[in-house]
Amino acid sequence: MDQIRREVPPPWSHRLQGVLITEREIRFRVKQLAVELGTTANLGNPVVIALLNGSFMFLADLIREMPFEIPVDFIGVSSYRDGKKPARLVFTKALDMDIKNKDVLIVDDILDSGQTLQKVVQVIEGLSPSSIRTCVFLEKKRTRALTIHADFAAFCIPDYFVVGYGMDFAGNYRNLPFVGILNDEQV
Ligand code: IMP
Ligand code: MG
Repeated sequence: MDQIRREVPPPWSHRLQGVLITEREIRFRVKQLAVELGTTANLGNPVVIALLNGSFMFLADLIREMPFEIPVDFIGVSSYRDGKKPARLVFTKALDMDIKNKDVLIVDDILDSGQTLQKVVQVIEGLSPSSIRTCVFLEKKRTRALTIHADFAAFCIPDYFVVGYGMDFAGNYRNLPFVGILNDEQV
């Protein structure tokens, strides 16, 4: 997923410089990933914990491809307050479900520095689940100070700032059905 396509659907063409992952590619890969998750030994029937806000679209597509019962809960965590630079991590919603002795699958939109996922994994570990796996829609290829990686990733991408399919820039663009890259003037 390294190639940027210059053809951008018309409503977005003056805001984006390109499309990194098309709607079709997303649909195909998310289905495939759901199968991978379903066939992974000892994942069992996990409790899915999704991180708000960015994961909502990926979560919705992914769990509709999972043909077994799955409880779903949400943790709210925000690191990008207003723009591209990570800010202090703030928890905006706690988990409601009891996950003690449960197999947990954490779902997030993107693994960038790893700060968010690492902190969330620590918090969840404190709630004594029997196992924790992580699944992200995108994993950025970059050098990380942190050693965290995702157990499952739909796509690996270069170190671009991306929007769409749930991911925002300053609160906008979450509704794009594909993954795009903003024009330099927007950021
Ligand atoms: P990390 O803590 O640096 O790994 O960043 C994780 C969070 O930052 C993700 O859950 C996203 O919400 C946000 N983020 C990181 N990179 C991007 C991006 O390229 N576009 C939009 N949001 C991003
Ligand atoms: Mg996020």
